[in-house]
Amino acid sequence: MAESNTDTKSSNQMWGGRFASGPDAIMEEINASIGFDKKLFAQDIRGSIAHATMLAHQGIISAEDKDKIVHGLNTILSEIESGNFEFSRRLEDIHMNIEARLATLIGPAAGRLHTARSRNDQVALDFRLWVKEELEKTEKMLTGLIAAFLDRAEEHAESVMPGFTHLQTAQPVTFGHHCMAYVEMFGRDRSRVRHAIEHLDESPIGAAALAGTGYPIDRHMTAKALGFREPTRNSIDTVSDRDFAIEFLAIAAITGMHLSRLAEEIVIWSTPQFGFVRLSDAFSTGSSIMPQKKNPDAAELVRAKTGRINGSLIALLTIMKGLPLAYSKDMQEDKEQVFDAAESLELAIAAMTGMVRDMTVNTARMKAAAGSGFSTATDLADWLVREAGLPFRDAHHVTGRAVALAESKGCDLAELPLVDLQAIHSAITDTVYDVLTVEASVASRKSFGGTAPSEVRKQIAFWRARN
Ligand code: ARG
Repeated sequence: MAESNTDTKSSNQMWGGRFASGPDAIMEEINASIGFDKKLFAQDIRGSIAHATMLAHQGIISAEDKDKIVHGLNTILSEIESGNFEFSRRLEDIHMNIEARLATLIGPAAGRLHTARSRNDQVALDFRLWVKEELEKTEKMLTGLIAAFLDRAEEHAESVMPGFTHLQTAQPVTFGHHCMAYVEMFGRDRSRVRHAIEHLDESPIGAAALAGTGYPIDRHMTAKALGFREPTRNSIDTVSDRDFAIEFLAIAAITGMHLSRLAEEIVIWSTPQFGFVRLSDAFSTGSSIMPQKKNPDAAELVRAKTGRINGSLIALLTIMKGLPLAYSKDMQEDKEQVFDAAESLELAIAAMTGMVRDMTVNTARMKAAAGSGFSTATDLADWLVREAGLPFRDAHHVTGRAVALAESKGCDLAELPLVDLQAIHSAITDTVYDVLTVEASVASRKSFGGTAPSEVRKQIAFWRARN
């Protein structure tokens, strides 16, 4: 049966169409990462320039070879940036594509670049640099989103809206206060980003394959040249660690979850039934069949991007979970997850910032809704505690009876005649009506962090000083 081996290479029916050319083609396709890791070209070149410069400084390669290498790498950088570089899948990944081109450009000196390093520390470096830049970009974008919310909060520090629990009207709050809740959420996301930058700020280059190297390299020099705080301490950990990528994805997932909650609120608020906000035309679409519709597509897509980002986080956690130390090729699957999540996150933050800035807030609708659903019932109970000396539990009970009465009469608490209220509890006087309006309710909640406009303004001032 030996002869059948010869044609498996050209046409094995079991492998089917695209693999008709046999095992070499399958291996090339499964092994190559150039299709996605070409995104790392700038980081790869920066890393190689720093490495070559250090090698020359340490006398490991000559200054002439270093100059040729640096010149060649800069040429490659402009070739790639101008779209004049031919990526080859046969050369597997970005590292070998660049090194092969360097050999064509400068000859044998190119072979000295890979002294005292391996693709294992090289890819760890390139990817770390990429993730670091992405985190810095995310930090800026979150700052922009927070700024948009601060502006809206300031504008609406006094605008009353219903506050919800269980999506049922609970107590009146201000729209400014609601906006500031998102500032807190995105502020936490931003501080997670800052911590992640601190965590990853160690240079992997020089860990080599996994054990370090016998050449007299200076890892502090390369760390400094590449803008890292210091070199990593353990060469085995260095080439097997992808925590920085997982942290990025975890932060993206949490931020995505926040964005998705906001998206959901915008979807609800922009329904004709709620009518709290109107999205700008820029961030909504019409229907091809129903002329009256204005759909919150951007918000819906932000909500959906969260699913994608969560998928990437789980994918990378799963890829890493059973890997023995140090490097395994499994780790090549880290990049697409991070690239995809980064793209989704950037787009989601940008779309949300635009929506928050552009949406029209219907304060009249919000205020009307704030007054319905007996939202000031707690204020009545608090009045009974404060003015009539009732224990809160009793006041809660009395208020419940007043709500039931108003419900049966089809009116609001503030519309119940005084005699009716006094029939429920004799201590009630007409000053109770002062607390039954939504404005009075909101203004009274002056506890630290509360919804009173004066408190909301303090929250805004706190964040303005930090944004
Ligand atoms: N393309 C590889 C990756 O992304 C680079 C590292 C390859 N190292 C190796 N020992 N095969 O992980």
